[in-house]
Amino acid sequence: MCGIVGYIGKRKASEVLLNGLNRMEYRGYDSAGISVIEDSKLITMKKKGKVSLLESIVDHKSLTSTIGIAHTRWATHGYPNDVNAHPHSDNSGNISIIHNGIIENYYALKIKLTEEGYTFKSETDTEVLAVFIGALYEQVNDLERAVRMALSEVSGTFGIVVLSSHEPDKLIAARRGSPLVVGIGKSEYIAASDATAIVQYTNSVVYLSDNEMAIITRDGFTTKTISNRKTIKAIQEIKFSIDQIEKSGFEHFMLKEIYEQPHTIRDSFRGRLLSEKGNVKLGGLSSVKDKLRSAGRIIITACGTSWHAALVGEYLIEQIAQVPVEVEYASEFRYRNPILNPDDVVFVISQSGETADTLAAVQEAKRKGATVLGIVNVVGSSIARETDAGIYIHAGPEIGVASTKAFTAQISVLMLIALYLGRMKNLSLADGRKIAAELNELPAKVESVLQNAEGIKSIAKEYSTAKNFLYLGRGNNFPVALEGALKLKEISYIHAEGYPAAEMKHGPIALIDENMPVVFIATKDDIYDKVISNIEEVKARKGKIIAIATEGDSRIGRIADHVIYIPDSISFLTPILASIPLQLLAYYMALELECNVDQPRNLAKSVTVE
Ligand code: AGP
Ligand code: GLU
Repeated sequence: MCGIVGYIGKRKASEVLLNGLNRMEYRGYDSAGISVIEDSKLITMKKKGKVSLLESIVDHKSLTSTIGIAHTRWATHGYPNDVNAHPHSDNSGNISIIHNGIIENYYALKIKLTEEGYTFKSETDTEVLAVFIGALYEQVNDLERAVRMALSEVSGTFGIVVLSSHEPDKLIAARRGSPLVVGIGKSEYIAASDATAIVQYTNSVVYLSDNEMAIITRDGFTTKTISNRKTIKAIQEIKFSIDQIEKSGFEHFMLKEIYEQPHTIRDSFRGRLLSEKGNVKLGGLSSVKDKLRSAGRIIITACGTSWHAALVGEYLIEQIAQVPVEVEYASEFRYRNPILNPDDVVFVISQSGETADTLAAVQEAKRKGATVLGIVNVVGSSIARETDAGIYIHAGPEIGVASTKAFTAQISVLMLIALYLGRMKNLSLADGRKIAAELNELPAKVESVLQNAEGIKSIAKEYSTAKNFLYLGRGNNFPVALEGALKLKEISYIHAEGYPAAEMKHGPIALIDENMPVVFIATKDDIYDKVISNIEEVKARKGKIIAIATEGDSRIGRIADHVIYIPDSISFLTPILASIPLQLLAYYMALELECNVDQPRNLAKSVTVE
C-alpha cells in the first residue's frame, strides 16, 4: 500500500520525486503530495486524487530544491482528501514525513499529545507520528535522535522518510514491516518503497531491514538500528531494466503482462528444468533438500491470487509427489495458532514479497520451528529475505494491480517443485520426462491461447452489462474458477463468484436464469463428463454458458453459447492455459466499462497493511 520516495542529490528534487510517484502509483492512488526545502523553508503541496492532479499544482520551474520527499497514498486512517494526504508535518511546520503502514497506537499517542497542547489537522495515524517527532525534537534538538525516540514508542508498521528545515541537508528513512530501499547514485540518493522509483537513476541499492534506519546526506549514508546500533549493509544490484517497467506500446500494463506470459513462463523454468533426467535443479532449495525429502506435510500459505496458485499447487504436489498439502489464507494462519510439526515445510507465495499477512505468516511459522520457503517475484523483498530459502519466479516487475503473469509463473514454479519432490520419491524417469516435455511446450501453447483475444473481446462486449457471473470448474480447474472470478471482480467491479462445479447444485443454482452468464472451465480430463452434466443443468435453466474447452472437443460447442478453445496438455498444466482467456475476458470487460484497468478503485498492488 502507498508509495513513498525521498531524494537528496544534485537534480531538481520535484522532478525526481514526481517521476518516482508515477512509477509507484500502482501501490496506491487515493492522493499524492510532495515536500521540499526551498530557500531554507519547508514547503508542501498535496492533493486528493492521482499523481497527475498533483503534477498540475507543482510548478517545477519555480522550484530549485535538490532535496525532498513525496507520497502516493492508499488510505487506512482518514478519508482520501487533501488534508489527509501525505506528507504530514509537525506543529512547527519544520518537519515533514511520508509513511507507508499503520501506527497502531496512534490514538493513545494523539490523546497524550493533545493533552500536552499539540494540535492536529487530519484524521490520519501518520500525522500523529509527525507531531510526536516534532514534540521530541523540541526536547533534544536532534532530528535523528527525535526520530529514533519516536519510533521506539510506536507500535505497528512503518516505512517512513523524514525531511526537516532544521537540518535541511538530511533525509532519515526507517522501516518496520513496510518495505524501504535506498538507491545509491553518484552524489545522489533515493529512498523508496520499491526499486521502480530508483532504477532510472541507479542500479545499486541497499534493502533496509525491520527496525533499521538510514541517515542520508549529500556525502553519503549510514545505517543503524532504531536502538542506535550501527549496521553494515551489502550493496545489491536491481535485477530489472527501465524498459521492463514501461508499457512498451501496450495500452495498459495488465495487457502487456498478459502478453509477456510465454516469456515469463519460460523464464520461470529456464536453467532449472533437466528434461533428459525428467527432473529439476532448484538451487534455491538445495540447502533444505533433506527437509523437503522427509517432509511429512506441506503447508502453502498466501493471499489473493497467490492463494489461488497455492490451491493449484496442492493438486500438483499431492498428485505428482504424493505429499499431503494444506493450503491456508495467510491472514487466518497468522492468528489461529496453527499446529506445526518439526517435519512440516511451509511454503509462502507472494508476488510482491511484502504482503503484511503473508510476512506475518512467515514469522509465525518460523516461531513454531517449521522450515519456511518462499515463492516470490520481487528480488530482495521482505518475504524473500525472511524465509529460510526459496525460489524466485522470475516474472519481472508486475505493475498492473491485477496479477496475471505472476500467477502463471507461480504455478509453473509449483510444477517444478512437484516434479522435484516427485523424483525424490516414486515418480518414474519416464513420467518425469513427460512432464518436462510438456513444460517445454507450454510457452508455445500460451502463445496460441493469446490468439483468441479477438473472440474474447466480442464475448466481453456481449456480457459487459451483466451484473453477476458464476465461474465453475472441477479438480485443479476449481482454483482457476476462483482466479477468473477475482480478475473480473477486481478490475470491472462486476460481482463474480467461483465455485467447484458440483457445488452449484447445493445453492448457487438458484441464481441461474437468462441473465446469469456462467463461465465453465471444461477442459478434457477424467472428470470432463461430470462438468458437461453441470453445463446441462445450467442450460436447463436458461443460463448463458461461456466454456473454456480443449481444442478438438466437438461436443461442447453443441451446448455452450460461447467456447474458447485452448491446446491440449497434461491436466497438471491446464490451469495455466485456462487462466489466460479469463485474464483477457476480465481485461476486455473492464475496458468496455471504461474502468481503470491498471489501477482499479480501492485496490493497491502490494497490501503491506493488515
Ligand atoms: C490479485 O490480482 C490481487 N492483486 C491480490 O489478490 C494479490 O494477489 C494479493 O494481494 C497477494 O499479493 P502478493 O502475491 O504480492 O502477496
Ligand atoms: N496509515 C497511513 C494513512 O492512512 C498510510 C497508509 C498506507 O500505508 O497506505 O495515510
